[in-house]
Formats: sequence, C-alpha cells, structure tokens
Amino acid sequence: MTMSKTEIERALRELRLPGITATLETRILQAQANSQPFLETFCLLLQDEIDGRRTRLTERRFKTSGLDERPTLTDFDWHFNPKVPRHACFELHTLKFISEGINGLLIGKPGTGKSHIAKAVAYHATLQGFDVRYVEADSAFAHYCLASPKEQSKLLATMLEPDLLVLDDLFLARRISDGAAELLQTLVHRRYKARRSIVVTSNRVVEDWGKYLGDNTMSTTILDRLIHRSQLLAFEGKSYRLGQAAERLTGKA
Ligand SMILES: Nc1ncnc2c1ncn2[C@@H]1O[C@H](COP(=O)(O)OP(=O)(O)O)[C@@H](O)[C@H]1O
Ligand SMILES: [Mg+2]
Repeated sequence: MTMSKTEIERALRELRLPGITATLETRILQAQANSQPFLETFCLLLQDEIDGRRTRLTERRFKTSGLDERPTLTDFDWHFNPKVPRHACFELHTLKFISEGINGLLIGKPGTGKSHIAKAVAYHATLQGFDVRYVEADSAFAHYCLASPKEQSKLLATMLEPDLLVLDDLFLARRISDGAAELLQTLVHRRYKARRSIVVTSNRVVEDWGKYLGDNTMSTTILDRLIHRSQLLAFEGKSYRLGQAAERLTGKA
C-alpha cells in the first residue's frame, strides 16, 4: 500500500509528528541522492522529530518563564568589576542550588550586574529543563494585589510551582504593602516547605529588610526562611550603566 503525499501529511498530523512533516521532503531527496538504506533515512527522521520537540519545549519554557531577554555569562565582562563574586556566580550557574533547594541572594549596589547574573542563571535553567518564573518583584506584587481572587490563585500557582522563582529588585521602593508582604510570606513559606529555590536580587542590604516588611513576627519568619539555606552573593564596585553613560559623554563609546 502506498500513500499520496497529502495522505502521508495527514497521517503525520494525526500522529502529531510535525518534526518529520517539516523535513520529510528533504530526507526523501537525500535518500534518493545517496541511495541511502531505509533504516538510515528512518533514523534521520526520528532525530528530526526529537530535535523539533526539544526546541519547542525549550521555547515554551522560555516563554512561560517571563524572562524578557536571554543574557548569558559569556556576555558578562568580568574585568569591568573585579569585586563581583565571580566564583559564586559560576557556582550558581551550575544550578546545583536548584536541586538542593537553596536560595540565592544577590545583594549590592545598582548597575553591578545582579539582574544580569540572575537572568543568565534563570535562562540557563530553562535550557536545562527546569521550570522557571522570573518576575520584577514590585510590579508583580502590585499586579497580584489588584487582581481578583480567582486571578490571584492563578498568579500564585505560577510563582509557587516552578523549580526556580526569581524575585528581581526586591524592596526597590523600600517598604512594601501589607498585601505584598502577605504574598511574600506565602511564597517564602510554601517554597521553603517544598524545598524550591528562590533567587532574590536587591539593592537593599539584608539588615534593612525587616524594616521594609514592617518589623513584626511575620517579617521575622519570612526572613528566617528566606535566609536559612541560602547563598549570599555581595555585589560591590562601580555601576556598569554609569560606566557606559560616562563613556558616551566623553566620546569613548
Ligand atoms: N560586568 C558586566 N559586563 C557586561 N554587562 C554588564 C556588567 N554589569 C552590568 N552589565 C549590564 O549593565 C546593565 C545593568 O546591570 P544590571 O544587571 O541590571 O544591574 P543591577 O541589577 O545590579 O542593578 C545591564 O544591561 C547589564 O547587562
Ligand atoms: Mg537589577
């Protein structure tokens, strides 16, 4: 029995094999040109399907992560700021902390590369098959507080379930609202219990975090759980943003 091209395409659609559909014509031409044994062509087609699935999965993980760019450690100029904790950044990038349920706290001055490193680690994690959620803390918390209860439970799930949650620029506006503090408490408690990692970046020193939470028992329990089982990475030195702006002004860029 032979099938027409349309029938083959329909069968491939029914079997959900878009990778094979995409390369079939090329593989047939290749087989004819090389007088290739059937099994060799079959293996190539299987590999095309597997490759296609991997790419689609990775793309989907990137989209759901909420990351807006794909920074890497290769883009990072380690010479610009010798005070950046290089060793700890690479340790974080191994992603061992995710399996171990350890948190990463990237703390220090603005423009020193905290978000860049956090995003690079998060992006790498999506490529390695981890589910990741990246949010800018202030706007995500504000969005959550204004949402309907139904929407809130959906938003909460997107921050509770992934293997890694990144809270970028926590306490940017210093004091957070009571609603935001409650959300933070839920996130920290439930992820702590499930041994799921959180990466936090902040321009604010950890000693002041209690103040921004309102200095009560709730803030103590949040901080205890966030800091217990965590790796602190202190970012010091000059701002890359300011460095670039200065170069532009002096015409060196
Ligand atoms: N050492 C560096 N090498 C290359 N780019 C850097 C470096 N440090 C910071 N940047 C870039 O400068 C900008 C500000 O860095 P960012 O990570 O947002 O700083 P922070 O989060 O500490 O305020 C980003 O575009 C980032 O990619
Ligand atoms: Mg930042």
